[in-house]
Amino acid sequence: MTRRAVVIGAGHYLPERIVENAEFEASLDTSDEWIRSRSGIERRHFAADGETTSQMATRAAQAALKSAGRTAEDVDAIVLATSTADLTFPSAATMVQSQLGMTSGFAFDVQAVCAGFVYALANANALIASGQAERVLVIGAETFSRIMDWTDRSTCVLFGDGAGAVLLEAQEGTGSSDDRGILATDLNSDGRYRDLLYVDGGVATQNTGHLRMQGNQVFRHAVEKLAATAHTALDRAGVDAEDVDWIVPHQANIRIIQGTAKKMGLPMDKVVVTVQDHGNTSAASIPLALSVGVERGQIKPGDLLVTEAIGGGLAWGAVVLRW
Ligand code: UT7
Repeated sequence: MTRRAVVIGAGHYLPERIVENAEFEASLDTSDEWIRSRSGIERRHFAADGETTSQMATRAAQAALKSAGRTAEDVDAIVLATSTADLTFPSAATMVQSQLGMTSGFAFDVQAVCAGFVYALANANALIASGQAERVLVIGAETFSRIMDWTDRSTCVLFGDGAGAVLLEAQEGTGSSDDRGILATDLNSDGRYRDLLYVDGGVATQNTGHLRMQGNQVFRHAVEKLAATAHTALDRAGVDAEDVDWIVPHQANIRIIQGTAKKMGLPMDKVVVTVQDHGNTSAASIPLALSVGVERGQIKPGDLLVTEAIGGGLAWGAVVLRW
């Protein structure tokens, strides 16, 4: 028998305010046409004044608990992927813990930027596989609108805010790739590329700073590294690419999503795409896509999924799981 971390619920939260591409035309030398054709993004949600990452994460976590038919009392641990925690410390995860009314268990943040949810899933899987937890809430939540330079057209039109969550539960599997749950993970980073995507503020500068990105350089790395990490994870899981029902990719750019699917030899009708409605929500994008994919009736119990993401660091990785 093999202890598996099985997804038993998913949920998401998007802030109320929706900003269409055309709204940027008033203040920037840009166009709806440029943003759509270069990125696939049509609109994004922005948090309200005072609305924080931990608040959005809590709403997504409550939705995931509801869909699983569980309460916060059933949760042993919270792993929250974010690069935009409310404060430098404590972790946004401990804030979610208190907002959920939990007074036991443990909670921590994982910071791997856009790859954060993949890293968080891998960590939560290890906690469950090693017997340290029975049920783990894994959340991705971001308020990238707070770290945008609104005068930089090459970045500020690309990102959005939101949160998604899944509840993982320890279940006994047979050890085969037919098991439900996380079957394999692959994590990578290479800090030599840290200048391609970073925030120019933090403790060292005593201000929050703004996101800076050499987008076309990140793009160059993305398709190759994403297809490679997905293949590594599929190999470890003992499955072939053609067995995959759904790719649930990080939603940064439709051209990266299409390029990765093509490199993996899979058609776009096997890809969950939400980038047009959410923009790039960094660590929130995969759990948002998982939850929306279930709502749309795309992802069903027993489906084989591969999630993959790349972002600042560079950090990238993939998780193969049976839903
Ligand atoms: O999620 C974390 C990882 N991040 C990513 O995966 C993002 C990866 N990169 C990308 O998605 C794409 O590189 C972008 C969407 C950011 C940019 O697309 P691109 O096709 O790589 O364009 P580019 O950066 O090479 O820029 C092409 C042109 C430039 O003008 P010149 O130098 O050719 O005259 C830019 O100044 O487009 C210009 N440009 C814009 N024009 C209108 C850049 N931003 C805009 C804009 N509106 N918003």
